[in-house]
Parts: sequence; C-alpha cells; structure tokens
Amino acid sequence: MSIAAAKSHVGAARPRVDGPLKVSGLARYAAEFATDDCLCGYVVSGAIAKGRITKIDCAEALAAPRVIAVFTHETRPQGSTSASKYRDQVAPPGDPFMPLLNERIFFSGQPVALIVAEDYESARDAASLINIAYEEEAASIDVAARKSAAYTPPKKRSGIEPPPKPRGDAEGAFASAPVRLENQYRVAVEFHNPMEMHGSTVIYEGDGKLTIHDKTQGAQNTQGYVASVFGLSPENVRVISPFVGGAFGSGLRPQYQLFLAVMASLALERSVRVTLTRDQMFTFGYRPDTIHTVGLACGHDGRLLSVMHDAVAGTSAFEDYQENVVNWSGLLYACPNAKLSYSLTKLDAYTPADMRAPGATLGVFALESAMDELAYAARIDPLELRLRNYAERDAAADKDFTSKALRDCYEQGARRFNWAKRQPDPRSMREGRDLIGYGMATGVWEALMRPTTARARLAAGGRLEVATATADIGTGTYTILSQIAADALGIPLERVTALVGDSALPKSPVEGGSWAAASAGAAVQLACFRLRRELLAIARAMENSPLANADLQHVTFADGAIALAAEPSRRVSILEAMRASGAEFLEAEETAKRDASVDKSYSAYTHSAVFAEVRVDEQLGVARVTRVVSAVAAGKILNPLTGRSQIIGGVVMGIGMALHEEALPDLRLSRFMNRNLGEYHIPAHADICDIDVIFVDERDDKVSPMGVKGLGEIGIVGTAAAVANAIFHATGKRVRELPITIDKLL
Ligand code: MOS
Repeated sequence: MSIAAAKSHVGAARPRVDGPLKVSGLARYAAEFATDDCLCGYVVSGAIAKGRITKIDCAEALAAPRVIAVFTHETRPQGSTSASKYRDQVAPPGDPFMPLLNERIFFSGQPVALIVAEDYESARDAASLINIAYEEEAASIDVAARKSAAYTPPKKRSGIEPPPKPRGDAEGAFASAPVRLENQYRVAVEFHNPMEMHGSTVIYEGDGKLTIHDKTQGAQNTQGYVASVFGLSPENVRVISPFVGGAFGSGLRPQYQLFLAVMASLALERSVRVTLTRDQMFTFGYRPDTIHTVGLACGHDGRLLSVMHDAVAGTSAFEDYQENVVNWSGLLYACPNAKLSYSLTKLDAYTPADMRAPGATLGVFALESAMDELAYAARIDPLELRLRNYAERDAAADKDFTSKALRDCYEQGARRFNWAKRQPDPRSMREGRDLIGYGMATGVWEALMRPTTARARLAAGGRLEVATATADIGTGTYTILSQIAADALGIPLERVTALVGDSALPKSPVEGGSWAAASAGAAVQLACFRLRRELLAIARAMENSPLANADLQHVTFADGAIALAAEPSRRVSILEAMRASGAEFLEAEETAKRDASVDKSYSAYTHSAVFAEVRVDEQLGVARVTRVVSAVAAGKILNPLTGRSQIIGGVVMGIGMALHEEALPDLRLSRFMNRNLGEYHIPAHADICDIDVIFVDERDDKVSPMGVKGLGEIGIVGTAAAVANAIFHATGKRVRELPITIDKLL
C-alpha cells in the first residue's frame, strides 16, 4: 500500500513501553495473581526414572495441618484419559504425557502427587509425609548407548522438515577430495531456566468457568489444551498472561503444573495455584542431547566438494520430538554434493523442548566447528573460507532467497572486530599468561510468518488500542506493536496501548520461531490501515471538508491529523473526524499472512556473522570471552534498542552454551543431578564482556509486509561455534563437546 506517511517510530530506538510496569513491580506474572481464597499446590516428584508405583500412602499427608487434598493416580478426579486430547498446537507426533494417569513412571522427576493446602508451606511440608514404593525397571538416558537403536521418525512434526534428499554424490566426492575431515560433535543437555519458574493460577469462577494465569507463550494454546483435556468449552476458559518472565521455548507447550492446577481447581471447586520449584524446572524443558557426525571436504582452493551431516537426537519414550538440526548444513554454503540425515532414539526421559533457535543452535555449532577445522586443514583464513563458499541461492530447496545480506555481515562484522589483526596460527597471539584467540562462525535462522489476527480500536478521545493474543516474553512485542500502530495513524506513541497475552484477544499462534514481530506486526498494521480508510471516509464526508476529494494515496497521517500530502494545511484532525462520526470508537480487525507465492518460490532466512575473542589462562585453563561482534541481517529492524537486546541475549545464551551450561546425568540413575543454579552454571555478569551488535541494511519486499524477519533466535546461532573456534585459535585444542570447561583445556 503506497500511503505517504511520516514515519517517526518504526525503525527508531524506543525504550520498552512496558518497562515502567516491570521495574516498578506492577507487572504481574502467572503466580502473582491472587484471590482471597486461593489454595496452593505442591508437586511431588517421583524418585525413579522408569517403572511403576506399587504403593502410595497419603494418609499422613492428608492429616497434616491445613492440607485440603492429595491427588495421585489413584484419586485423579478429572481429565481425559485419551492422549490425543493432550496434543497442543506445537506438540510433536506421539502421545503427550498425561500427569497422574496411572502407576507408570517414564522419567525421573515425573509428578506423582499433588498436595493442595491452604498455603504453600503447608503443602510443601506435607509432601515429605507421602510414602511411595516403586518397582524399578532398567532405564537409560544415554544417547550414545542408544544410538544403535536410532530410527527415522515415522511422522513429521508440523513445521519441521525432514532432511532434503541427497544432492550429487557426497560420499564419492569426499573420498577423492584433497582436503577432508570427519568428526563428532556434541552439546551437553541444557535446561530452560527462565527467571520466572513455571506456574499456573487457576481462578474458579463458578458455572464451570475458569480464568487461568499461566506462564505461556500462547494464551490460546493453553486455552485449547485445557478445554480439550477437561472437556470444557473454550469460551469458559480464559487464559490471561500479560507478562512472561523469560521462556524462549519453555512456555510453548502447556506444562504439567497447568494440568495439575486445573484438575485440582475443578475437583475442589476452588481457586488453585501450582508453582514449580527451581529443582522441578530440571524435570522438563531441555534441549535434546544430540550426537553429530560432520564430514566436510574441499579442494586446495577451499571450495567445498562434500558436506555430510548426520545427527542422532534423544527423545522421550512417548513422543517423537523433532527439530531442524542438519538441514542448515545443506543450504548455508554452496556445495554440489550434500548428504544429510537425522534420526531419533528413545530415552527414559521427558520429551525435549524447543529452546531458542531449536535445532539450528546444535546443528550450526557442529557445522561451523567443522568449517573452522577445514579452514586450518586447507590453510585458508576461516572468514575467507566462508566467502569462497558463499551460497547465492538455497541449493537444498532450489530457490532464491527473499534477501540475503550475509556478505555485509561478514564484511562489517570483520571490520568492527578487527579480524585482520588475527595471526593465522593457533597459539600465536598472547599477552602475559593469556593465550588470545579469534574465532568466527555463521548464524542462520528461518524468517517465518504465521497467520495472525489483530484488532485496532480508536476511541473518540484519540486513544488507540491494538490487540492480538500473542505473548511478549520480554522480547519487546508490546513496544514494536505500539510503534507500528502509532505510525500507521500518525499519533504519539503515548496514545497507543498494545494488548497481548489474553486468549480472548484476536487469534494468534504461539509466540515463537521469531515470527511474532513479522506476523503480529503486520496484523496490527493492517488493522490500523483499515482505520485510516474509515477515518478518511469520515473526514471527506464532513461539511466543507478540506479533504473532500482526497484519496488515500494523496494524504498523510501525521501529528494526529489527516492532511493532503501536497498541501498540508488542508487537514482534518483525527479528533475532529471522530467527533464528526459521532461514534464512541472505530474498530477494525484484520488477519495478516505471508503471500503464498513467496513461500512457493523463495527461501526466507535471517543470517549473522559472529566474531569472538577469547583469553585463556594458559596455566589455569580458564577461558573467558572478552569480545563478541554479532553482525545480523534480519530485514527491517523495527526497534534497534529492543532488537539489540534480543541479539545480546542470544549471544549470552550462546556463551553459556559454549562455556557453562551442562546438565550432568548420572547414567546409573538416569537422572540429572545438578538441578539448581548453584551447580548448573549460566553466565553471570562477570562472564559477559563487550557485545557489539551490528544490524546490516537488508531490504526485503517479500518476506513479510513490513520487510521484517524477526530477531528472537538469530543471536544465539553460531555464537557457541565462534567461541569454540576462538578457543582453538588461542590454545590449539579442539573441543568438540560443549561446554568447554577447564578440564577440557588442561
Ligand atoms: Mo522459541 S524456541 O520458538 O520460543
């Protein structure tokens, strides 16, 4: 639509519109909504990884002070017993976990009882009084041991593509190539650890109605799940989740505390809150354990001759969880021969979960580590190797890209980082006791758009409210939607209220896959554009209207008024138009989706080039990341301030993956042992140094209506490889299993 309008907010750095609510403590999270008589639930976690409960004695717990009820598989009062009813919008194929269904135990930490009491402490105290006897069966959470039992998932997960068919003859080309290598890579299991632990407050409204405050990335996904599992009509289930204290995937699927809270609420006809402990956050929601084998070959000129990437990933016994792990290796570089494969193996663990850039984070770590190794083998600078193999089109899908400014990322990132200062040989840069290393890697993520509906409502007093059911998990959704709306009608940002995180709002998919900005943003803009047409029609019809014959192409919406572009003194203010209409408000609802022909003819991706500097204390083996430059091509950047935060957050998670995060399994118990933030390390402020973000200019008129590609995930992809590659450059030690802890460097 070619409407000339003064753009004042979109593209400009604007602080978060919800910032004051957050820093003043007024923003309420799922477990902070209160009613006078809300009961509290405490989840009892099982002690074994596999087997069955032979006896569960709750008498003592039930007799404890202030305890109202104890629910176990023997007394489970509510909820469907049909697995298909538990399938949420983003569930992988299989039978979702059904809490307290029967005596079977499938994973360590499985919830086996819910104690409901007048207060949280009483419920927690009573949990210690439950006596449970188990019959244990042999279990394994060892992907390496179960690799021989790997299988190709018979049904694909929606949105996840199986690896493309091989192209060329990757094995033949590999065998005859002058430079080649094949290695295994692995990343420790990482658990989601958002600041806000999972919790659900279920308010029992009577008449079969529930209002639920859930920690979720999709209020309507939670609503659909609860309605389906408990046989309620969706209109009677309202899910309100305005703020989410971090998620990045852990809030995509409904978690078991939601089921338990709703079950207890319906059974007791009371409001019930169930929150998980930090320890229990380690019972679900983890990046899958994945073993990669990458084979790369090139000529003496560095041109790739063969790319082979195989990955085996762990999943649960009951679901075939899938990610795009290896597909990136077939499209990131130009290469005539490629062979990719991906399989799963069953573990006695909970189903893995999406975690920021699921699949890409793992697969690109393996590929970009291997590319670095190839650079040394071919004696070519690692950046130069990437440039020599630059993919102008997506060879895997045989499509052009909607846009791809990765070359600019390489160039601008290298310049900002001062890559030219790098000495080619490992261990060739040092300062005092510190070995210094420079490493780099490429990042890639899908630029997705999903059908999303938004409503815009302009009140007579001039306030504009825009609304869609998506979530803001801290990423800045409230802010960018407000910016888009303010610009669309040419009104101040302060006059706009954005509403998200409510199942009663217009339909939106879960907030994930980095698609919310492009999708919800486009929907809000479309709805506001319809208001513009209506406002102009009203203005034209006004008596002695200065805009009597004006059409949409020739007016601007700026400074709170509609004006003729060629003669701005001919104007009608929005307030005047609203007064003339006599209406209390104008309202429009629109659905945005990507042009189907774009998906058919093009590939759409965001890209990045990540450069990292490390210092490794030669005697102590301590590695520190001292600088990161992340240069990102993600189409139109709606807000460089919140956008930059997205990239910094991704880089920090990538540094955590490279150096810190590691869930340590006891393979005899099939249980992760370090279930707290004291022993499961995440980067602290002292671990994070200078992170420099560059957004390169990337115009894209196809990917989404505003040219937006999304920023939530690209910041993490490639970061761990850049750090690992820098550590090799510093030390000459190639560590192919993350995290790179001191023991691996000494
Ligand atoms: Mo993202 S892992 O889709 O929240």
